[in-house]
Amino acid sequence: MGGDSNDAADMTPTVTLAELYKEQGFLDKAASVYKKLLVMEPDRAELKEALEAIEKRLAVSTPPAEKSETKTMLGHLNGWRKVIRERKKMLDQKGEKRRKILVIHGPNLHMLGRREPSVYGTSTLKEIDEEIKKTAEECGMSADTFQSNHEGDLIEKIYETIDGYDLLIINPAAYTHTSVAIRDALLMLDIPIIEVHLSNIYRREPFRQKSMIADVVTAQVVGFGKDGYTVAVRAAANMSRRA
Ligand code: DQA
Repeated sequence: MGGDSNDAADMTPTVTLAELYKEQGFLDKAASVYKKLLVMEPDRAELKEALEAIEKRLAVSTPPAEKSETKTMLGHLNGWRKVIRERKKMLDQKGEKRRKILVIHGPNLHMLGRREPSVYGTSTLKEIDEEIKKTAEECGMSADTFQSNHEGDLIEKIYETIDGYDLLIINPAAYTHTSVAIRDALLMLDIPIIEVHLSNIYRREPFRQKSMIADVVTAQVVGFGKDGYTVAVRAAANMSRRA
């Protein structure tokens, strides 16, 4: 087992894999898979419960299986590993394209950190983008980010999602309140779109309380400052997993 390169550490963590290890009596490996799953989905109560149950069993310290039994179990496990390996290969081939997020930032957001910090916070866009990418990785996805001050550039970027991305997160900034053109471009997409605003636009000046895209997007995240982006990435990852 120790020398086998297809050990728990190499496999895509899934509940099925964890359950297989558990059934075969490899509780430590099952616990390690659940721990990885919890890093990706820390709020899933059933994962926490499953891990706790395994840890309780580990604490009681199950006596090691007889040698011959171990051999049989290894045989079973290797069979399952083969199935899992094939499935992983298949998911990797499909998954690359399925799990990409594009994050678009509109005008003036490149000045975050210096721009009205009392409203938009002190983090720079570079810091926010790094956090977005890190969160996406933690969720088993990847994220590209883009900022422009020009409406046409934003529209062209929106179109890039058609073949390349599964989810779009967009903060059109001031264009939120004015751009029929951005609204029309978003109407072309058939992927989930999450609208993010650092500030709570519904508690600001009347002209900001109207979003031209609110009824086109799948969901809105407003008022959480920079955290709105990571909230959106996590929600998007869950959404994509369910889909
Ligand atoms: C904003 C709100 C907009 O009204 C404003 O023009 C922005 C930022 C936000 O993230 O809170 O530039 O979209």
